[in-house]
Parts: sequence; C-alpha cells; structure tokens
Amino acid sequence: MRPITKLFLFVSLILVTFTMINACKTPEAILNKSGAQLWGENCNRCHNAPDPTTYSDDQWDVVAEHMRQKALLTDREITKVREFLKSANNQ
Ligand code: HEC
Repeated sequence: MRPITKLFLFVSLILVTFTMINACKTPEAILNKSGAQLWGENCNRCHNAPDPTTYSDDQWDVVAEHMRQKALLTDREITKVREFLKSANNQ
C-alpha cells in the first residue's frame, strides 16, 4: 500500500470515530430543557400533568422518585421537574 493511501485511510478512520462519538452525545438543546418543559412533555404522557399545588415539597420528593421510574427520566431531568414543582406549589 502506498504511504499516501495509508495516510488517507488513517485520517478517514479518525474522522469516522469522532463522528460516531459525537452522534452518541445527547444534544445540548435536550440537556438544557427546563423543569417546566420536562414536566409538560413527560408528566402528561400517562395521565393529566398534575398541578404543582396538589402536593407539598415533601410529598413531591416521594412522587418524583416514584414517577422517575415510571417515566424513565434521568436524575438530572427529574431533579429539574422536582425543583419546578416545588417552586410553583406555594407550600
Ligand atoms: C409511564 C407512565 C407515567 C408517566 C410518564 C408519569 N406517570 Fe405519574 N402515574 C402513572 C401511574 C400508572 C400512576 C398511578 C399508579 C401508581 O401510583 O403507580 C401515576 C400516579 C401519579 C401521581 C399520584 C400519586 C402517586 O405517586 O401515585 C402523581 C402525583 C403523578 N403520577 C405525577 C407524575 C409526574 C410529576 C410525572 C412526570 C415526571 C408523571 N407522573 C409521569 C404513570 C405515569
């Protein structure tokens, strides 16, 4: 194989590897969603999204853990939803 062909294959391999690694990363737009947005998108998939005033802060802690498992949300996502619910419940 000619050296220039080897170099071309090597550079191609590097480019493909970085493209694949990049494709696996969660896009910033998804990571930066707010708690209110995540609540609106996820908490009404199975039932009506609950009103934040329905529960106290302590109760939301319990519900959030319960629903994190049902909704298959990440820790980061449910933390934002929980903070949003607590900030909006006036309790
Ligand atoms: C995959 C379906 C699903 C998703 C998504 C979901 N829920 Fe639920 N939720 C349920 C089911 C089923 C129940 C009733 C049975 C139970 O409690 O397990 C429930 C019950 C509740 C209750 C009643 C109290 C309780 O803990 O049982 C609250 C409040 C609630 N969900 C809030 C939420 C919030 C907030 C989210 C968003 C983070 C959410 N749910 C997302 C399925 C879901």
